[in-house]
Amino acid sequence: MKAIYSGTFDPITNGHLDIIERASKIFDTIIIAVATSSSKKPMFDISQRVEMIEKASVNINGISVVAFDNLLVDFARDNGANTIIRGIRSVGDFEYEQSMDYANSSLDNSIESIYLMPKLKYSYISSSLVRTLIEFNGKISHLVPLEVNKLLESYR
Ligand code: COA
Repeated sequence: MKAIYSGTFDPITNGHLDIIERASKIFDTIIIAVATSSSKKPMFDISQRVEMIEKASVNINGISVVAFDNLLVDFARDNGANTIIRGIRSVGDFEYEQSMDYANSSLDNSIESIYLMPKLKYSYISSSLVRTLIEFNGKISHLVPLEVNKLLESYR
């Protein structure tokens, strides 16, 4: 079975990677859909975000990483997937995910979303925390995958 794991991934963190590892035990194929999200003015351009995810997930079977710039349900349908995976870290994520699910279901109710929780030790990590630490030259090696840390060091 094929699923889409979507996000901006600016940058991918250990929490995201944990979700990818969990999902890979359920689905044969996972397309990691990296939203351009230009309105969020990402710190890393789309090719850097794709490269970081490819490096981080190299040892997980069945993963491909694809950038997208259209509606998620259209991207899922065009890629032959009817499941969207999202991570929920805390109740704070719940309301946002609920509204996204309502929006996506209103556009295409043949596509289902499923929610996975990352390990407790990753539940406080967010991409914006990592970006803030990068901005102030703080330590991030405990928050992002090893290969991503190496790439981020090379950008500093
Ligand atoms: N570990 C760590 N962080 C996590 C996480 C996890 N397991 N799960 C979520 N997050 C964090 C991210 O780091 C990010 O943090 P930040 O806000 O501090 O940067 C935050 O949760 C949410 O980011 P992300 O999961 O990347 O999702 P997003 O909200 O940026 O992306 C899209 C959402 C791109 C999937 C969504 O906007 C979309 O589908 N866009 C296409 C247009 C569309 O179809 N819209 C819906 C219908 S109108």
